[in-house]
Amino acid sequence: MNKFKKTILITGGAGFIGSHLVRLFVNKYPKYKIVNLDKLTYAGNLANLKDIENNSNYEFVKADIVDEDLIQKLFDEYGFDGVIHLAAESHVDRSISNPTEFIYANIVGTVNLLNAARFIWQDNLKNKLFYHISTDEVYGSLGEKGFFVETTPYDPRSPYSASKASSDHLVRAYYHTFKLPVVISNCSNNYGGYQFPEKLIPLFINNIKHKKPLPVYGKGENIRDWLYVEDHAKAIDLIYHKGNIGETYNIGGNNEWKNLELIKKLCRIMDKKLNRPEGTSANLITYVKDRAGHDLRYAIDSSKLQNELGWKPSLQFEEGLEKTVDWYLSNEQWLDNVTSGAYQKYYKEQYVKR
Ligand code: NAD
Ligand code: DAU
Repeated sequence: MNKFKKTILITGGAGFIGSHLVRLFVNKYPKYKIVNLDKLTYAGNLANLKDIENNSNYEFVKADIVDEDLIQKLFDEYGFDGVIHLAAESHVDRSISNPTEFIYANIVGTVNLLNAARFIWQDNLKNKLFYHISTDEVYGSLGEKGFFVETTPYDPRSPYSASKASSDHLVRAYYHTFKLPVVISNCSNNYGGYQFPEKLIPLFINNIKHKKPLPVYGKGENIRDWLYVEDHAKAIDLIYHKGNIGETYNIGGNNEWKNLELIKKLCRIMDKKLNRPEGTSANLITYVKDRAGHDLRYAIDSSKLQNELGWKPSLQFEEGLEKTVDWYLSNEQWLDNVTSGAYQKYYKEQYVKR
């Protein structure tokens, strides 16, 4: 007999946010069996989960969500009670160089999971949940004023955000058409440990460490709303357990920063931590060609989540950023491992051509 109360599938659990979520669930819910399904792309790394890999309520399965037959087989075998779906191609710049990859992973992959869940749950939907993790980028780009709310019309503008928007629509379609119990959350930019150093904050930390140029797109005037990754994981936990079926929840830090201001702040922290004279890191700032279709501003209104479910971010940005810098500086081995090999090729192609 299964000794666990529930078996929950977390897809993309070897990635940045997924690994924080898997860690939270494995430690907080010993009565849940957590199955982490991940293809281990360049962004997926089992070293992110070393501390929990031997826990008896944790299992890793290497699989590609695009492989329809395999996904169906795994659902039959494990009989998951819940799915928290994070697996995706997640980097906007990569979606500009190779959109097709994003269509397969983010759209076809999501449909395969929806079909598999629908199939095994068809006779009993009670206590089942398909939780789809999405992004604020589906809402498009804001001007200087206003916030994204749950009813903001979709207006994705990059292949990445268009593929995520498409997956959100499919999840809602399965709720309305097939009564599949679903919930969706759309979150703003996350930061913290274990983020692949192609994204702004870990990329710049790594470049500063190696005294390499800091490639600022355009004039550095774009604005993002930053949330510490563990606060996102806690929000997912809350929504998984208390969220209402069929609903969407926006998650954000209420913490907007112009890229250049954030980068200067990061430079000051790095100078201090590395005992370099003030201004050393900022001298590495280099303005490069802007990202194609670069969204100007994202800002989330998370009052629905705060008022209905009682969530709020726990960390101030200063504290979170410093914690993040400390993490990358004390996990040199992790950073060196992920930036060897294929990373070098990506970096050359992404930045030399600009
Ligand atoms: P990530 O790129 O760090 O991790 C993605 C994970 O998915 C990796 O482990 C990768 O191996 C896996 N994966 C990719 N394609 C797969 C496939 N075909 N089959 C199985 N596994 C596959 O991404 P992240 O930043 O942790 O984002 C996780 C999710 O959260 C994504 O759905 C993303 O759209 C969403 N999100 C991210 C942010 C952010 O700021 N990073 C914000 C809001 C929403
Ligand atoms: O808003 C949520 C989204 O945040 C997630 O859905 C995505 O998965 C995640 O990657 C992130 O998207 P962004 O495009 O906002 O993140 P990124 O770290 O790539 O870039 C942040 C800002 O910094 C953006 O305005 C582009 C800029 N930038 C980025 C890089 C990599 C630079 O100026 N230079 C760079 O080299």
